[in-house]
Amino acid sequence: MSTPKKIAVFVSGGGTNLQALIDAQESGILHSGKIVLVLASNPTAYALERAKNHGIATAVAWKKELGSQEAFEAAIERELAAHNIDLIVLAGFMNILSAAFTSKWPERIINVHPALIPSFCGKGMYGLAPHIAALEMGVKVTGATVHFVNEIPDGGKIIAQKAVYIEEGDTPEVLQRRVMEQAEWIILPRAVEQVAASMA
Ligand code: GAR
Repeated sequence: MSTPKKIAVFVSGGGTNLQALIDAQESGILHSGKIVLVLASNPTAYALERAKNHGIATAVAWKKELGSQEAFEAAIERELAAHNIDLIVLAGFMNILSAAFTSKWPERIINVHPALIPSFCGKGMYGLAPHIAALEMGVKVTGATVHFVNEIPDGGKIIAQKAVYIEEGDTPEVLQRRVMEQAEWIILPRAVEQVAASMA
């Protein structure tokens, strides 16, 4: 058996997708990779607490403090090198990474998006926005997508998707929770395992 690939999970907020990855690691669903670093885009992300609770190293790269995209990405790159990272997972990471950064990690950055790409994706479509847009459009089915990250926001090769039904009376928050429970927390860990295993 080869050594598990070293994974960095990038986060910005609550970190429920990070939690799903940690749980998958503890239950053995994720075994071809190991989360060795959780990097947050701001110092108050609750996801940092989740990492600490499980003994995972943490780092913060805060663009506001670092001043520019270049300095932000340089700080990220220093952390990735320090931890010998093989694979990056964006799990609720709310910052865009430049083409200069993504081109160094071809098919080595995975993102989870809370809609069925190509619907409700691209610039500005993050967090609650895809759910608000889905409800406004009146679609009956939405879902989540796991994909590789390239220079186009939400434009990389699709790895996995799962559909979720919209129900009468859904609010954006209710829909967001259902999409997480029925899709994101299931397909993200499986996709990360699939990619890590393919790198072995
Ligand atoms: C998740 O729904 C994730 O798909 C979304 O933000 C939420 C983060 O929740 N990500 C994006 O919109 C990125 N385009 P979490 O911090 O609890 O995992």
